[in-house]
Amino acid sequence: MINSKIVGLGAYVPSNIVTNDKLSEFVDTSDEWILTRTGIKERRVSIDEDTSELATRACIEALKNASIKADDVDHIIVATVSPDMFCPSVSCIVQNNIGAVNASALDINAACSGFLYGVKLANSLIKSGEAKIVLVVGAETLSKVTDWTDRRTCVLFGDAAGAAVIKATEENGIMAVHTMAEGDKWNALKIDGIPVRNPFVKAEERAHYISMNGQEVFRFATRVIVEATRKVLKKADLNISDITYIIPHQANLRIIDYASKKLGFPIEKFYINLDRYGNTSSASVPLALYEMFQEGKLKKGDKIILVGFGGGLTYGATLIEW
Ligand code: COA
Repeated sequence: MINSKIVGLGAYVPSNIVTNDKLSEFVDTSDEWILTRTGIKERRVSIDEDTSELATRACIEALKNASIKADDVDHIIVATVSPDMFCPSVSCIVQNNIGAVNASALDINAACSGFLYGVKLANSLIKSGEAKIVLVVGAETLSKVTDWTDRRTCVLFGDAAGAAVIKATEENGIMAVHTMAEGDKWNALKIDGIPVRNPFVKAEERAHYISMNGQEVFRFATRVIVEATRKVLKKADLNISDITYIIPHQANLRIIDYASKKLGFPIEKFYINLDRYGNTSSASVPLALYEMFQEGKLKKGDKIILVGFGGGLTYGATLIEW
């Protein structure tokens, strides 16, 4: 039977660090407020690198770690809500940058759940026999769609990219996937942009920035992080006690804390790096997985749940055996 497995990881974050204190210099907030309400201490903000550049660097490292040549890649899937431009896709620019001449390439938009949606697609492509090697990338420069005068959102987000090489194998790898959307709440988190339904109408002044109903998203996130985790456990016929780590979307420490209590899964077994990067949307889960790998935390046979939620509203989870 064909399975799919993550065989290489890469990540890249811009070098420019913006601390909570730095933010407090130009917006009415404080380190104390941000830290206690979210757990975030600092985030990375790109100065001159676009999403495709972050994604490219993450992909090059992931391929190197997987010992796979770029021209062996069959598909590139980039999950992003902050592409370089409407067209072409970030994935086509990445394809050119890394020399993946035999790959097809497309972007997907499932906001902060994007990487998990990408893993689900890669898993399906591999299991159907359509592909042997798929690069799944989450990459964002949210800084360019952040309203730096809006303290309700600008303290939350950051820029980053994370990439995974997923390969056909007979070993255990991706054991269960689940994604879902609740489009009735589409209005809770959005980046309007120019009005494409009528481009002759002038866009509202701040329409190209992220706007969010924080409390509605918070309620959604705390519910679905638990639901999605339970769903993949059920699909894989496992119990929470079989799980070594949960890698959650890095949005807010309070959301992770809630999930820990509700699932009866110790907080120490959730990987957390949001204090250093904030919410990097589709990049957050692969960046966290990459850091765990770099820190030598992942052992063969470990069962790990990746789980996320975001704009759409969307959510998803994946259960993998390392
Ligand atoms: N600094 C200081 N004060 C701030 C602030 C900031 N950065 N942002 C908001 N406030 C103020 C508000 O104006 C409000 O003041 P008021 O009571 O005088 O009106 C007060 O703090 C409380 O605001 P509230 O929105 O109720 O805070 P909260 O506890 O809900 O925390 C979020 C706000 C955004 C951190 C929280 O709702 C959240 O994390 N939601 C989920 C968001 C998310 O994960 N989004 C991404 C999904 S992928």
